[in-house]
Amino acid sequence: MPNAAKIRARVGVLGASGYTGAELLRLLIHHQGVEIALLTAERRAGQHMSQVFPQFSPYSLPKLLAIDSVDWKKAALDLAFCALPHATTQRVIKALLASAPGTKVVDLSADFRLADPAAYARWYGHEHHAPELQKEAVYGLSEIYRSSIKSARLVANPGCYTTCAELALIPLLRAKAIDPDEIVIDAKSGMTGAGRAAKEEMLFSEVSEGFHAYGVGRHRHMAELDQEFSRAAGRMVIVSFTPHLVPMNRGIFSTIYVRGLNTSAEGLHTILCKSYAAEPFVHVLPFGEMPHTRHVRGSNMIFIGLANDRVEARAIICAALDNLTKGASGQAVQNMNLMLGFPETLGLEQVALFP
Ligand SMILES: NC(=O)c1ccc[n+]([C@@H]2O[C@H](COP(=O)([O-])OP(=O)(O)OC[C@H]3O[C@@H](n4cnc5c(N)ncnc54)[C@H](OP(=O)(O)O)[C@@H]3O)[C@@H](O)[C@H]2O)c1
Repeated sequence: MPNAAKIRARVGVLGASGYTGAELLRLLIHHQGVEIALLTAERRAGQHMSQVFPQFSPYSLPKLLAIDSVDWKKAALDLAFCALPHATTQRVIKALLASAPGTKVVDLSADFRLADPAAYARWYGHEHHAPELQKEAVYGLSEIYRSSIKSARLVANPGCYTTCAELALIPLLRAKAIDPDEIVIDAKSGMTGAGRAAKEEMLFSEVSEGFHAYGVGRHRHMAELDQEFSRAAGRMVIVSFTPHLVPMNRGIFSTIYVRGLNTSAEGLHTILCKSYAAEPFVHVLPFGEMPHTRHVRGSNMIFIGLANDRVEARAIICAALDNLTKGASGQAVQNMNLMLGFPETLGLEQVALFP
């Protein structure tokens, strides 16, 4: 780690006026290893963060610039967080790395998560604009790919739903303890998962006092889950996954049904406990206890609970995380810490905000 008092890494947040951008700033403002050197926005370009998010008014931060006005070489960033919408991202990162090849990037969008160009084109409806970077990108599930992340230039931060289900299941698939064809993920997200831009279906009156599924049978996070579960199982996995929108601000809660166990439910619990014993951000609850989204809100933690499902060879796993923290910006800072050689937990040790 560089001497924090003297050498601070210059970081930029592209898309600072969005929800994950604001969450990045919340975490980076007091991070001892970095200097916030550049912030960008689109509609809010030219404004100060305090005008976009008043919670930042006590802090001195750079003005929000339009991305097109940035000279990447002059910006001299050690690392850029890219918190932009899907598809815009690949063009921006391609231009950034062409002018400043030494800058490291943590991308929060889905643009570089799929390794297979054909799978990308199938799920996103167009060819990738930077296929050479797609090949280079390392999937940024910190606990699973830590050693590759440390030496990566471009890290594709995983999705919020996918982080939640992958951390719960990858050790079990690797251990061949569950049947990969019998996984059912019933997932719920808070509304900040959809970003800050105004959308009719996200109005209070459309979302409050109710609860619904969306993207049924076609949500793009399925592609990412299939990719990572196939890697872990060593053969193709096609998962059942349905997301739901619940009227709360932050949180992902996944109820996961697993069958065809090669061990007892307690045996699965032991595998998870052993896999994550040394992990600062993965907390496996005592057998039979279940997580709550309110107990991880604003923290970089995922809580995982596991219980019997009445008959042999079946179990139920519940996992909860904050979509903006462990599901996005917290994991992005964790990845930055790995890439820049800081202690992995630096700036990320907040306890959840409850009550
Ligand atoms: N929200 C989550 O829980 C979550 C979790 C994991 C991953 N992600 C991913 O992270 C990325 C950011 O998500 P978010 O929720 O923070 O979205 P958001 O709230 O909608 O913010 C998007 C940001 O991108 C800027 N922007 C929009 N269009 C642009 C363009 N054409 N050129 C340059 N900048 C542009 C916006 O600027 P203005 O506001 O000034 O227009 C804003 O700063 C997305 O790819 C999303 O899928 C989100």
